[in-house]
Parts: sequence; structure tokens; C-alpha cells
Amino acid sequence: MITARAHTNIALVKYWGKKDQKLIIPQTDSLSLTLNEFYADTGVEFRDDLTADDIEIDGQPITGRSAKKVKDFLDIIRQISGSHNYAKVVSTNHVPISAGLASSASAFAALATAASKAAGLNLDRRSLSRLARRGSGSATRSIYGGLVEWHRGTDDQSSFAEPIMEKVDFGIEMMAILINTTKKKISSRQGMQSSVESSPYYPAWRKVVAQDMVAMKKAISDKNIDQIGHIAEENALRMHALTLSADPGYTYFNGDTIRAIQAINDLRSHGVSCYYTMDAGPNVKVIYNQKDREKIVQYLGNLFSKQRLIISQPGPGVKIIDK
Ligand code: PMV
Repeated sequence: MITARAHTNIALVKYWGKKDQKLIIPQTDSLSLTLNEFYADTGVEFRDDLTADDIEIDGQPITGRSAKKVKDFLDIIRQISGSHNYAKVVSTNHVPISAGLASSASAFAALATAASKAAGLNLDRRSLSRLARRGSGSATRSIYGGLVEWHRGTDDQSSFAEPIMEKVDFGIEMMAILINTTKKKISSRQGMQSSVESSPYYPAWRKVVAQDMVAMKKAISDKNIDQIGHIAEENALRMHALTLSADPGYTYFNGDTIRAIQAINDLRSHGVSCYYTMDAGPNVKVIYNQKDREKIVQYLGNLFSKQRLIISQPGPGVKIIDK
């Protein structure tokens, strides 16, 4: 069995909308930070004695929509490698699943890497990034560590991620406030599609992202955490405006999400520079300079309890591990 470990990533400039739903070609570029604390270990073995794919996640066999996504993905690998064997897949997640902490990013980056190797393919990182994209858009970026850009491209060949800065050592850190770790009701797949089809603000979002990508890359090259945080926060709010403005409108936020946003605003008005971002779930991620960590933990720990705060440094790209 070949096992790969991939870390999740949180977008600082979000991907929210597909141009091609089958190939998962996005409407816009995006940019993320890979995190050290959240990852998936996935082992894959293709065997001629199996009569169906056998998939186990965190000790449980999976069925339904999640199983179909994995089987469809394994079909792509069988198609590329010419193999007809079914696979045994065993995955352990060190991420609360489907809670807006991008569990699908680490899951499909690890699966793409382990399954392609187990099928005898020797793919370079760009090819792995393209392959991971077929499972989940955000997985495209989890092939790489640190700060990563996903070029939207126009087809399967040209839509892949590339690292901007793999070793991130200028002090940026992220803290996840775990507000709710149960499975979300509206998947990112459904959510983004309804935004593309029904939000009147969608054309404006494309322009926002184009500008934010330029500004974010400048802020990264200046190693300016305040600028990075500010752009990421505005970008996240504008992404979430696409859910509120869809028809029917909805939100991934709950009351605690708003409480967290207010707490971060309060900290900032008291001179602690920290910023927030949210994905397809209620959890809030705080972006800050690690020198301010203690002040932020003190303040947020009083409101949300310290056990709900998970601190993460920038993390590495995918790798094959010995299990
Ligand atoms: O790749 P998906 O389907 O999990 O979508 C990810 C969407 C966001 O997490 C909200 C944004 C992003 O760029 O990761």
C-alpha cells in the first residue's frame, strides 16, 4: 500500500465558482496558505481480488455521495494508467471533516498522490496538481506547501497550481476558531454553482479577484502581514456576499461566526493586528503575526474556550510516507 500525506490549505484569495463543472476549471485564479496542523494520510492499493472499490475513512466504510466522488476519481486514475483493478483506500483525517476547514483539499491531494503512485504512474507535481483538481478544486493547491497560486487556465492542461513561496518564515500564522465541526448543509460545490448562476454580483467578483491577486502577490513579496490579512478579509467578505445575494440566498455563517468577527474587530481596534477569513462553513480563521499570538489566544480564549482555538504554522506540500 502506498500512503501519502497532504496538508489542507486556506485560501487568502478565494476560489468560488466553476467554468467547467466536470473538469473543475474555475472562473478565477486563487491563492492560499497550506497549513501544518490539518492533514490527511491516505493509503491506496490496486488489487486484482477486489470486485469493487473498498474505501474507508477514519475507520468507517463510506457510502453515498462521498463514496461516489472517490470512485469517480479512481476511475480517472484507472483511465490514465490503463489498469482495471479496484482499489483499497484507507484514509485518516486530521481535520474536522466538512466544517469549512477544507478537508476535501487535503483528502484529494493525498488521494491523487497515493493512487497515482499505486497505479504505477510517476507524475510530477504539476501533473499531480492537475489530477487533484479533478477531485476537488481546492486540492489543486494542496500539492504544494506555503503560499500557493492556482492559475485558473482554460482547460485540463492549463489549470494547475504553483508555489509562490514554499518556505514561509516571515511570521504569518493562522488560528482556526472551531465553531461548529458537524457536516455542512450546502456543499461548496452546490454553493458556488448557485452563486455563479444567480448572484447579480458574480461579474463584479471576477474583477475583485483579479485585483486581489495582484495586490496579494505584492503584499507577499513585501512580507507585509497586515496587507495580506486586510486583502484576505475583504476578499472573504465579498465571497460570502455571493451566497447572500444568490437566489435563494443563504449563508454559511452562524451567530458565533459573527461573534468571532466582532471579537477580531475589537482586538484590532485595541491595536492588535489580526484579520479573519471564512470558507464554506461557520468556522473562522484568524490571520496574524505570531508575535501577537498570546494576546489573541487570551482574548478569543475567553469567548470561545482555548480548546476551540487551533494554531497552525504554514505547512509543507504533499509527500509519500512510510506507514
Ligand atoms: O474545492 P472545494 O469544492 O472544497 O471548494 C473550496 C471553496 C473555498 O474553500 C470556500 C475557497 C477556496 O478557495 O478554498
